[in-house]
Amino acid sequence: MEAIDLLIKEHDNIKRVLAVARKLCLKILEEGEVDFEVFEKIIDFVKNYADDHHHGKEEDILFERMSDELDKDVKEITISAMFSEHDFGRYFISKLETALKEVKSGDEEAKIDIIANAVGYADLLDGHIFKENNMVYNYGKENLSSDTLQEIGVSCKEVEEKAAQEGIQDKYIKMIDDLEQRV
Ligand SMILES: [Fe+2]
Ligand SMILES: [Fe+2]
Repeated sequence: MEAIDLLIKEHDNIKRVLAVARKLCLKILEEGEVDFEVFEKIIDFVKNYADDHHHGKEEDILFERMSDELDKDVKEITISAMFSEHDFGRYFISKLETALKEVKSGDEEAKIDIIANAVGYADLLDGHIFKENNMVYNYGKENLSSDTLQEIGVSCKEVEEKAAQEGIQDKYIKMIDDLEQRV
């Protein structure tokens, strides 16, 4: 599979987990209960699959090459916006982790911070994915040279192979099925 097609496929996987996160939040509203175990799995998925594995390939390979080779505005406006959305996502997740700890130690009010940060993250990533799928990736595909696209393919393949040796893709794809069954 071509590197950009694989990134789009990964977006589908990430979106399935965003839907689980929203359902878990609805459960808090309806039942008042926080499913800590499922939230912790979502955080594991977000950090290691969505961020390390997926955003890693964007930041270190695709966006890096787009910044180097394409129009200066692409780097300064479009790519830097994608990087800052990745950072906002990390902020939401760190606030979510804090809120989970607070609720665990008896702070009922922090339930609203769980909902705010989990839903905030899901909305942010949903919009981010839409921009990448419909604009940013296409711009890269249409404007990078065929040599560069080939090099991006080789670099992404190396990342995929290393991750496969560590069982990353298997672990997190299985986790999505499990998460969907639990909400
Ligand atoms: Fe991204
Ligand atoms: Fe992405």
